[in-house]
Amino acid sequence: MTSLPDEFRDERELDDWLARPSAALVKSMARLEGPLAILGVAGKMGLSLAWTARRAAEQAGVDLRIFGVSRFSNPAAVEFLRARDIEAIPCDLLDPQAVAKLPDAANVIFMAGRKFGTEGDESVTWAVNTLAPAHVAQRYSGSRIVAFSTGCVYPLVTVASGGCTERTPPDPVGEYAQSCLGRERVLEYFSRTRSTPMCLLRLNYAVDLRYGVLHDIARQIHLGEPVNDTVPAANIIWQGDANNQALLSLEHCASPPEILNLTGPETFSVREVAAELAREMGKPVTFVGQPGERAYLNNSAKAAGWFGPPSVPLKTLIRWTARWVQAGGASLNKPTHFEVNTGKY
Ligand SMILES: NC(=O)c1ccc[n+]([C@@H]2O[C@H](COP(=O)([O-])OP(=O)(O)OC[C@H]3O[C@@H](n4cnc5c(N)ncnc54)[C@H](OP(=O)(O)O)[C@@H]3O)[C@@H](O)[C@H]2O)c1
Repeated sequence: MTSLPDEFRDERELDDWLARPSAALVKSMARLEGPLAILGVAGKMGLSLAWTARRAAEQAGVDLRIFGVSRFSNPAAVEFLRARDIEAIPCDLLDPQAVAKLPDAANVIFMAGRKFGTEGDESVTWAVNTLAPAHVAQRYSGSRIVAFSTGCVYPLVTVASGGCTERTPPDPVGEYAQSCLGRERVLEYFSRTRSTPMCLLRLNYAVDLRYGVLHDIARQIHLGEPVNDTVPAANIIWQGDANNQALLSLEHCASPPEILNLTGPETFSVREVAAELAREMGKPVTFVGQPGERAYLNNSAKAAGWFGPPSVPLKTLIRWTARWVQAGGASLNKPTHFEVNTGKY
């Protein structure tokens, strides 16, 4: 087992660590039939996931064709992929003719989605979150599909509940979360009618040091702003672990789809984590908001049974984030809005 670094000096070191394949993933890649398609590749998680897959294939000694699909609104993503021997194919997944022309792939990771900007522009969110998956499910009905979903399809629950399990009935709050359940149901429909093996990943907050719940809290403390604890608790997972588990889930696809909660084992209090970050950063912390009783909490016992615990524990994530933010490390400036409990984004 590799020991964890104390901190990251720059984005190059951080990106490198984020994209490390686990030994289990390398073994899995050795068995994986190609090509591997990553749809919605150009986002916060996708580029790193693609690189993780490439490294796992290299370490497994297999010549795997990997291609990434996005609209590439950020052209730098194309360069990132090509430099790592991953094809970049521009395509709007809302265009069924364009999707029909995408190359064959035995294995597909579906990552496209829309959250922020939903309020006032709901139809676009519904289209991206339900129509694009329909096009992809039809194009790749003969493939295995792992699709990212969200823990927001569950109701908000108390900490005492132990978090929602995969058996908890969905009860999404607000149109973004409802459209995500729509994505799941559309995929499930095609999985059932065409016997397509799928796995739907209900992710609760991936964290990088440049974005995520811990980054948001640490940044507020660093800037002397109050931390909002309206939503009193959360689960998170190191983005590298989330991406490793997503790729490993290809071997767990089934029809009807497998459902898997993707998050860390620790449920933390926003107040306590804020206090710990503040201590690490040598800064005071203040709070704003009406501390509520319910939060988006996922129980990750099923994923732990499949994959074991994530490689980076919460304690380390807190220390890494405190040092990163304190040292003026980069931010994606994409707040998670973890404090929102109304479903309005
Ligand atoms: N990060 C988290 O903590 C988290 C938590 C829960 C769920 N999720 C879900 O997990 C998935 C991956 O997360 P992420 O943070 O990487 O998301 P992200 O940053 O929003 O990236 C998704 C990417 O999908 C692409 N996309 C969107 N619409 C498209 C379309 N019509 N055609 C082709 N590509 C399209 C976009 O790139 P282009 O603009 O280049 O097309 C975008 O960068 C998303 O579905 C997200 O909702 C993430």
